[in-house]
Amino acid sequence: MFDPNMDEVERIKQLKKERNAIILAHNYQRGDVQDIADFVGDSFGLSQKAVDSGAEVIVFCGVDFMAESAAVLNPEKTVLMPELSAQCPMAAMITVESLRHEKEKYPGATVVCYVNTPASVKAESDICCTSANAVKVVNALPEDEIIFVPDRNLALYVAAHTDKKIIPWNGYCPTHHLILPGDILLEKEEHPDAEILVHPECRPDVIALADQVLSTAGMLKYARQSSSKEFIIGTEVGLLHRLNKENPDKTFIPATSYAVCPNMKMNTLGSIIRALERNEHVIKIPEDVRVKAKLALDRMLDVGRGD
Ligand code: 13P
Ligand code: SF4
Repeated sequence: MFDPNMDEVERIKQLKKERNAIILAHNYQRGDVQDIADFVGDSFGLSQKAVDSGAEVIVFCGVDFMAESAAVLNPEKTVLMPELSAQCPMAAMITVESLRHEKEKYPGATVVCYVNTPASVKAESDICCTSANAVKVVNALPEDEIIFVPDRNLALYVAAHTDKKIIPWNGYCPTHHLILPGDILLEKEEHPDAEILVHPECRPDVIALADQVLSTAGMLKYARQSSSKEFIIGTEVGLLHRLNKENPDKTFIPATSYAVCPNMKMNTLGSIIRALERNEHVIKIPEDVRVKAKLALDRMLDVGRGD
């Protein structure tokens, strides 16, 4: 029974039980959303978790393409997205029509698509990848010519770690583009012993300054295992929540506090309650698209993590 005096966290726990639901959250979510989630991770870990979970309902706290992937992988489960307007702008930088046009230009090429894409684009691709396994996925392919969509920075990073010909798409993440080489250099001057960890969505001149280029989960693992005490973090600032929580004896300095993804911050405890109470917003993918997109995601899951 609903008690109007119950606080939001208690209400979420009650609703989760009633609906046999789990909450999956990306590492960039608000701290309070991360804290009530059953699993917090990067895109690769979240895709895997969506497959492994025995729950009937998945509340996906991330952005559109992540919830879509969960729905593609789990047609028998109800996937809920608390805030429909939490859309990734990079994923919107490519369409099926524009990808088909690119494929016509390079008929022999294989299409590797970063998971930050609509399900329809995944359905038109040969295999997906995430920031954790992009290099591993490309190097595992037998083909030598690769159309890599939609992130040009990740494509260029992969190109530097393979002998294959990479044809990049011209998309980018507006949040990671706010991180500039000058930000990193300024922090390094103040913290000369700090290790520099950056996400592969960063610009090439930022990547050139990094000690490690890692997915968000890769950064968490690296920070845990490293003997360094200070780290400059070149990614969305939401990752600092877990870094600080898991490593109270270490210091994490954001490369810039401007690196905020507004879309990732839309989900709140209130919107999770609403999603579970009203069963909204259910993410459904047309079956013909879903089956083809699942093939590309399954192939990626078979290759496994890279970092
Ligand atoms: P990760 O898979 O590394 O968590 O990155 C997802 C993302 O959207 C980065 O901007
Ligand atoms: Fe998309 Fe960038 Fe936000 Fe990740 S951080 S969801 S790539 S806009």
